[in-house]
Amino acid sequence: MCGIFAYMNYRVPRTRKEIFETLIKGLQRLEYRGYDSAGVAIDGHNNEVKERHIQLVKKRGNVKALDEELYKQDSMDLKMEFETHFGIAHTRWATHGVPNAVNSHPQRSDKGNEFVVIHNGIITNYKDLRKFLESKGYEFESETDTETIAKLIKYVFDNRETEDITFSTLVERVIQQLEGAFALVFKSIHYPGEAVATRRGSPLLIGVRSKYKLSTEQIPILYRTRNFENVKNICKTRMKRLDSSTCLHAVGDKAVEFFFASDASAIIEHTNRVIFLEDDDIAAVADGKLSIHRVKRSASDDPSRAIQTLQMELQQIMKGNFSAFMQKEIFEQPESVFNTMRGRVNFETNTVLLGGLKDHLKEIRRCRRLIVIGCGTSYHAAVATRQVLEELTELPVMVELASDFLDRNTPVFRDDVCFFISQSGETADTLLALRYCKDRRALTVGVTNTVGSSISRETDCGVHINAGPEIGVASTKVAPPTCAPKSTLQQERGRQGVVRVGAWCCASSHVSHRLPFAPALPESPFYPQAYTSQFISLVMFGLMMSEDRISLQNRRQEIIRGLRSLPGLIKEVLSLDEKIHDLALELYTQRSLLVMGRGYNYATCLEGALKIKEITYMHSEGILAGELKHGPLALIDKQMPIIMVIMKDPCFAKCQNALQQITARQGRPIILCSRDDTESSKFAYKTIELPHTVDCLQGILSVIPLQLLSFHLAVLRGYDVDFPRNLAKSVTVE
Ligand code: F6R
Repeated sequence: MCGIFAYMNYRVPRTRKEIFETLIKGLQRLEYRGYDSAGVAIDGHNNEVKERHIQLVKKRGNVKALDEELYKQDSMDLKMEFETHFGIAHTRWATHGVPNAVNSHPQRSDKGNEFVVIHNGIITNYKDLRKFLESKGYEFESETDTETIAKLIKYVFDNRETEDITFSTLVERVIQQLEGAFALVFKSIHYPGEAVATRRGSPLLIGVRSKYKLSTEQIPILYRTRNFENVKNICKTRMKRLDSSTCLHAVGDKAVEFFFASDASAIIEHTNRVIFLEDDDIAAVADGKLSIHRVKRSASDDPSRAIQTLQMELQQIMKGNFSAFMQKEIFEQPESVFNTMRGRVNFETNTVLLGGLKDHLKEIRRCRRLIVIGCGTSYHAAVATRQVLEELTELPVMVELASDFLDRNTPVFRDDVCFFISQSGETADTLLALRYCKDRRALTVGVTNTVGSSISRETDCGVHINAGPEIGVASTKVAPPTCAPKSTLQQERGRQGVVRVGAWCCASSHVSHRLPFAPALPESPFYPQAYTSQFISLVMFGLMMSEDRISLQNRRQEIIRGLRSLPGLIKEVLSLDEKIHDLALELYTQRSLLVMGRGYNYATCLEGALKIKEITYMHSEGILAGELKHGPLALIDKQMPIIMVIMKDPCFAKCQNALQQITARQGRPIILCSRDDTESSKFAYKTIELPHTVDCLQGILSVIPLQLLSFHLAVLRGYDVDFPRNLAKSVTVE
């Protein structure tokens, strides 16, 4: 996930310094969306190319590093005034390509910076587009999907049928070729003083500021009358006539400023008058006038976009209606799980493709065993998926805590395949375990959320979970990239003594169709809770491994159907929040809380208990229900709070036994159960009823009430949920 910000002043004299400050401040507000590199494109000026020059300044690191670089590189007088200036700016959270200056945005069409673009989102068909453009002689310099967009607009411009083609028409033609999600802002030397912005699936809004009256409160949408099929066959299109009545501007062509941003936090300090763009809207500013047009018109289309007045404070916007980032992150899981699957799961053909692993599949299928290694929550994601991995890969699967794995000097062989699960990609124990396995020539596979992290650079191949950066410490830790970048296509000496070329899958371009369902909510700024995204990534791996197993086809289809319905079911679970809050009111004064379950939901108990202890500071234990009679039963009495996870799965009957053992000792269990479970509820002190999904995915739904419970308990106990004591964002020490 990234943050985009752009600023245009029209007939408002601003010094170069003021323009820099506006752009940098905008990026700082969006830095929570990504902070591994940043860049700007501004109107430049040098003696050789007096006019029409775009200056690009990009820097690895945070926005502060860019700020310093900007003043270092700028040779112009900072007091120089511009009546009209258009600058675009970006802060990046890498998805394609390591964090470095070349991969950061703005991306450009060519060395002359004819077109530059900033992007938030993922283009899933970028490899096909890149191949096409390379065949036409366009040379690429970065590893990003975004560079394809910059090159594509130049291609469309170079092949235009008329000289007077508008900037917005070019953009319109470009987005017809794009699959995936995007919010884009373009700038070009061919259209000085003009801006074009568009979005699909990623958020984008435009702020407007003027001390003069605005021409309208509702901007009418202009519709194109023709569509075009593909980039090779550009045909003519017509648009309704653009005149003053269809544009937003300050009456009398007076001074006006426009701000474009991924969210309102970057705009609110300048203006509270904003326009939210809808998917496929193309907004263009020329001569200080903003118009919006679209290609497609559907019956449900609103024919205008209203200028809205935001009533919110900055802090409120950052967290939305949530009181803590962690709470916001919990509620954004319908989108984060969708993003993990985006471009990888084809629900029509029932296939899954993780681009980073496909070249290693044969080797993985031949291996002796899979070893899945991680710490904390990442380890729990491995525990949660072990059974389904065993079933789908038909291989022995070992699940290991990285620290213990190292302490034991575990035997590892060259025909082992070792997975390293780490949200940050920097956890020291996991990294050391990776190096240990590499020394023993095992094939190493990373599953991380951080492109360019040590684990993603040092593994042979891997999967990026695309969960986005987090602010809340609980659940996962995000580390700022600490090591010098290498290429994601890094070269490593492999197990056979040959050079191994590692590849990483960020979002596969191979399955280049759009998913048949779109996220119902606007894109969220956090993509939180790496646990559920790691869970899904491992399930996707199992599905990919079993694609040619005839005996497993029914099971695969059942799981893929389950994946498809997950975002909707997660929303249903989230709607139980109030009930869970009431439960927290009963429990928050307790000292201890046991969480019990088995089978697919043992990991749910471990993860739930970890969440509770790390943010509420209550003692909490995740207990395997099968172990109850071997010790923990001694803890049970009518005072001890117990949560049981009992789902309609193959362990249901055994869980009933555990339930009997508890109630026989006057225990009063709170049961997380399936909606249609009448049996468990008879013995429950309270129930939280969850929607049913396929057994091996149920853990994604059952962990959410425990995340919510931990949040409410912590708030009621008066703790800062986003900054739990004694914990750091990234554990880079052993
Ligand atoms: C729990 C938590 C930790 C991390 C662990 C590993 O909420 O955040 O248990 O899961 O420190 O971190 P990563 O996944 O970054 O390797």
